[in-house]
Amino acid sequence: MLVAERIEQVRAWRGHVTGSVGFVPTMGYLHAGHLELVRRARRENNAVAVSIFVNPLQFGPHEDFERYPRDLQRDLRLLQDEQVDLVFAPRVAEIYPPGFSTAVDVGPIGERLEGASRPGHFRGVATVVTKLFMIVGPHRAYFGWKDAQQVVVIRKLVADLAIPVEIVAVPTVREEDGLACSSRNVYLSPEERRVAPALYAALAHARALWQEGARDAETLRQAVRARLAEEPLIRLDYVSVADAGTMEELVVVDRPAILSLAAWLGTTRLIDAVLLGAE
Ligand code: PAF
Repeated sequence: MLVAERIEQVRAWRGHVTGSVGFVPTMGYLHAGHLELVRRARRENNAVAVSIFVNPLQFGPHEDFERYPRDLQRDLRLLQDEQVDLVFAPRVAEIYPPGFSTAVDVGPIGERLEGASRPGHFRGVATVVTKLFMIVGPHRAYFGWKDAQQVVVIRKLVADLAIPVEIVAVPTVREEDGLACSSRNVYLSPEERRVAPALYAALAHARALWQEGARDAETLRQAVRARLAEEPLIRLDYVSVADAGTMEELVVVDRPAILSLAAWLGTTRLIDAVLLGAE
């Protein structure tokens, strides 16, 4: 496994690879969800590249960039076990050298939901993912459905910019109690961790209503709100039933949709999502 810090090392590696390249962009502190992406990439490609980069551009000024968990040595051991071919773990200055000023802005799709709560977030994601795609040159790139809006945003950006990479979205990996795997779960206190599975339980409850035939989007949102109102430690940021292609809020669920939420547990903000008839 080659561990590269420099763009030119990745380019040299890429020049020698034959066959398809699967790419898993991450911010490190890997968990079972990341490893699922890596395994899928391993099954579907001749070579697998993973990036580990905590991208400052996608964090707001008062967000958790500084305290975001990092453990490169542990990540490298896990990736070695998955027979990854290349790990790209650049320093911030390698991706954003002095004077860097270009940004990729996907427009309104990136301003809703996560984009509304975290202004600039998707501009940061779209910019770094575009740059990583330009560096690695993958045939396929793998993302988790937990970050459903991110999947939709990245599909939009590769379509708009005609970037020749297939975006593969992979089902969310969950802990046994339903909590979606996330690097941020380590922030939770034992008490917060105990109630956190309510997030998915609320989504699953609303999805069950949809499966039984409920099509009024507000009924589904209200079902999530009511379930979470039972948990005083959880403060809902938003719950959304949105068109799976545009992320526009729906009145009637008459097409593939994404049911998603963001919520605070103490100082930790978690997101989760389920698909209603989408992929
Ligand atoms: O999902 C993430 O971990 C990040 O948003 C990504 C895609 C690696 C871009 O920094």
